[in-house]
Amino acid sequence: MVAVLEIWVFVIILLVSLLQSQVLVISQNLTCNSDDLRGLRGFMDRLESPIDGWPTNSSSLSSSSRCCNLVGITCNSSSGRIVRFQLQNKRLTGMLSDLISNLDQLRTLNLSHNLLKGPLPISLFHLPHLEVVDLSSNEFHGVLPVTINLPALQVFDISDNAFTGSIPSGLCVNSTGIRVLRFAVNYLDGFIPPLFGNCHLLQHLSVASNFLSGVIPDLLFKLPRLQELTLQDNMFISITGIGNSSSSLVHLDVSSNRLTGNVPDFFHSFPNLSYFSADSNNLSGEIPPSLLNSQAISSLNLRNNSLYGSINFNCSIMVNLTSLDLSSNNFSGMIPANLASCLKLKTINLARNNRLIGQIPESFKNLQSLSYLSFSNCSLNNLSASLKILQHCPNLSVLVLSMNFLTEQLPSDEDLQFKALKALVIPGCRLTEIPKNLTQLPSLISREISLEEPSLDFGFFLKRNFSDRGLWLQYNQIMSLPPLLDLSRNFLTGPIWLEFGNLKELYNLDLKHNNLSGSIPDTLSGMRNIEMLDLSYNNLTGTIPPSLGNLFFLSEFSVAYNDLAGIIPSRGQFSTFTTSSFVGNPGLCGGFNLELKCEKIEELLPTDPASDDDDDDDESFIVWMVASIGFGTGFLVTVIVLVVVPIIRDNKRIRRMQALSINR
Ligand SMILES: *[C@@H]1O[C@H](CO)[C@@H](O)[C@H](O)[C@H]1NC(C)=O
Ligand SMILES: *[C@@H]1O[C@H](CO)[C@@H](O)[C@H](O)[C@H]1NC(C)=O
Ligand SMILES: *[C@@H]1O[C@H](CO)[C@@H](O)[C@H](O)[C@H]1NC(C)=O
Ligand SMILES: *[C@@H]1O[C@H](CO)[C@@H](O)[C@H](O)[C@H]1NC(C)=O
Ligand SMILES: *[C@@H]1O[C@H](CO)[C@@H](O)[C@H](O)[C@H]1NC(C)=O
Ligand SMILES: *[C@@H]1O[C@H](CO)[C@@H](O)[C@H](O)[C@H]1NC(C)=O
Ligand SMILES: *[C@@H]1O[C@H](CO)[C@@H](O)[C@H](O)[C@H]1NC(C)=O
Ligand SMILES: *[C@@H]1O[C@H](CO)[C@@H](O)[C@H](O)[C@H]1NC(C)=O
Ligand SMILES: *[C@@H]1O[C@H](CO)[C@@H](O)[C@H](O)[C@H]1NC(C)=O
Ligand SMILES: *[C@@H]1O[C@H](CO)[C@@H](O)[C@H](O)[C@H]1NC(C)=O
Ligand SMILES: *[C@@H]1O[C@H](CO)[C@@H](O)[C@H](O)[C@H]1NC(C)=O
Ligand SMILES: *[C@@H]1O[C@H](CO)[C@@H](O)[C@H](O)[C@H]1NC(C)=O
Repeated sequence: MVAVLEIWVFVIILLVSLLQSQVLVISQNLTCNSDDLRGLRGFMDRLESPIDGWPTNSSSLSSSSRCCNLVGITCNSSSGRIVRFQLQNKRLTGMLSDLISNLDQLRTLNLSHNLLKGPLPISLFHLPHLEVVDLSSNEFHGVLPVTINLPALQVFDISDNAFTGSIPSGLCVNSTGIRVLRFAVNYLDGFIPPLFGNCHLLQHLSVASNFLSGVIPDLLFKLPRLQELTLQDNMFISITGIGNSSSSLVHLDVSSNRLTGNVPDFFHSFPNLSYFSADSNNLSGEIPPSLLNSQAISSLNLRNNSLYGSINFNCSIMVNLTSLDLSSNNFSGMIPANLASCLKLKTINLARNNRLIGQIPESFKNLQSLSYLSFSNCSLNNLSASLKILQHCPNLSVLVLSMNFLTEQLPSDEDLQFKALKALVIPGCRLTEIPKNLTQLPSLISREISLEEPSLDFGFFLKRNFSDRGLWLQYNQIMSLPPLLDLSRNFLTGPIWLEFGNLKELYNLDLKHNNLSGSIPDTLSGMRNIEMLDLSYNNLTGTIPPSLGNLFFLSEFSVAYNDLAGIIPSRGQFSTFTTSSFVGNPGLCGGFNLELKCEKIEELLPTDPASDDDDDDDESFIVWMVASIGFGTGFLVTVIVLVVVPIIRDNKRIRRMQALSINR
């Protein structure tokens, strides 16, 4: 995935630069203005890297040079002065010279996505015509000046740098035409300046992922044009305000702050608000009436707070509600049957509200768009009836019911017919049998039937990743789940069905901590996309089928603490598993690089493990063929398995990470 992205970025950059050079060739034939020349030379002299397509030495630029023809430069064709300076994504290193202010006709400065460092020159903040400043995704640091005189400023983006100090309070004094302000992902502290009330034309304000504190001021909700306000991941302590019904706010994110008190009852002021997220604060009280009756809301996320009361949305008004996350709160009462009147709902997460009781209401049959449903750690009952109802939701793809149904069973011949189900998560209940229908879920058998990936629509945002600058994008929540069956920590007895082998599209199978018996079916090698297979803490006997060595994507495997015996397969991914995958099976020995010795069971020594597998999987067949050629040297096997396999597996990593963070 990363590689594909890079190719696209490359292609786009190529197209953009082709386009730019074309435009310049036909339109510009001007010599260099002396002020501009000084600015350009100064700029070059402070860089530590050459600029692609520019002379390598600034002294080869002279007044007879065609400055306007340089890559990234655009001049006004009548005055010959530089008006646009756009060197984004050029791997520039070094500092930004204060001689840049000699470009005094400049309107657009875009140096985003480089490696520029140091403080910004003060003179940059006094350019009379500057309209657009984009310095995002560099390594600039230092404090921003208090005095700013950029009367023409419309867009100012310094996000993803290392600026410290406070947001310049004077910004909205001289720059009253600002439309876009982005300060996200820096180290700014202090408050939102009260003078921001002057920025009447402000449409987008982003200060996410800083250290801002204090109150989220009411003035922001009175800015008549403000549409997007992202304040998440700071240290704000309260949010108040009556707002005004003339607010244009569409997107409001205050999550991951330190907000306490009630959710303000101000949503009548935001007739166009479609996205509201306040997760991971310590908000308490009930959901305010104006929010229960908010017409435009499509995504609502109040996860991980201390909210209580019953859940009582007015679906006849909230016609656009699509994603609802109220998990990790203290909501109580019966599962709200009228929620099903919000017919557009695609995701519902009510997990970890352990005073929510009852069974899934009959009305949930109406949720034809429902794709993701989680009630994990609630107090649900009647699993069988609940599953029967949910079978009527044709798009249900992820169902998480962990830790409920504490007195119930589900017979193995239970009739479960889910058209789109790809992830079923029911650990920690009291199930005693694996319903055989689970081995017949159509969307785990064939990819064609799988519908669109379920998504939570919200709950992931950009956060600084302190360990690796190149990868500062970090999702703080799941976007979607991999195809998954999790029946761990139940009371399952009986065999592992042979038919699990049909589940070609399954990625994770977790049956650990049960009481399953019998042997591990050889057919499991049919689960050719499996990445995680955990059968630990059961009562399985027999050997580990060598055919599991064909499971090309298997990266996590455990059969620990069973009663298995014989030789551990050593080929394929098995060469990457450590002893911990096999401990607690006194009869197991061998394996690749493992300490488990085979002294006592000479009689079990296998014929060549390669000879007894009938491989029908093309991908793993190729690798196994190559590996077989090198068999005996040991070295080639290691190289192939440790180098080739991880590269191919790389694009699966995201799904695996998501699996780990699933709401159980
Ligand atoms: C470009 O400028 C040069 C002199 O600097 C001149 O000789 C040439 O004719 C000009 N070309 C055009 C197309 O104006
Ligand atoms: C740039 O050119 C000047 C004068 O031609 C020369 O003195 C200087 O060494 C050159 N710098 C580099 C880095 O080549
Ligand atoms: C180009 O320069 C002329 C003359 O200085 C000026 O009137 C005009 O507004 C400028 N146009 C742009 C797009 O900067
Ligand atoms: C600056 O350039 C980047 C990369 O081309 C682009 O995505 C961004 O929109 C530009 N900034 C502005 C404010 O136009
Ligand atoms: C606004 O611009 C004027 C004129 O340059 C300057 O004196 C003043 O300090 C600026 N105000 C702020 C708050 O930056
Ligand atoms: C709302 O705005 C109107 C004018 O736009 C103003 O008269 C009124 O006082 C404001 N109300 C509040 C509560 O701010
Ligand atoms: C809400 O959106 C509609 C349609 O985009 C627009 O006409 C209206 O002015 C907006 N209302 C406010 C208060 O911004
Ligand atoms: C829940 O919110 C608290 C702050 O109230 C935060 O420290 C914690 O990391 C959040 N937990 C999750 C899982 O988001
Ligand atoms: C959250 O607020 C409640 C009171 O509303 C308080 O009892 C609790 O300790 C707070 N939790 C945190 C993590 O601050
Ligand atoms: C509901 O969503 C649709 C499509 O996004 C939008 O056109 C419509 O204005 C929204 N309705 C309300 C009441 O906001
Ligand atoms: C599910 O199991 C029932 C009873 O065992 C059976 O009749 C039905 O055909 C199975 N459904 C599917 C989709 O396999
Ligand atoms: C494991 O299975 C064997 C026979 O299959 C049985 O005798 C034994 O009691 C089982 N052990 C446990 C802990 O259930």
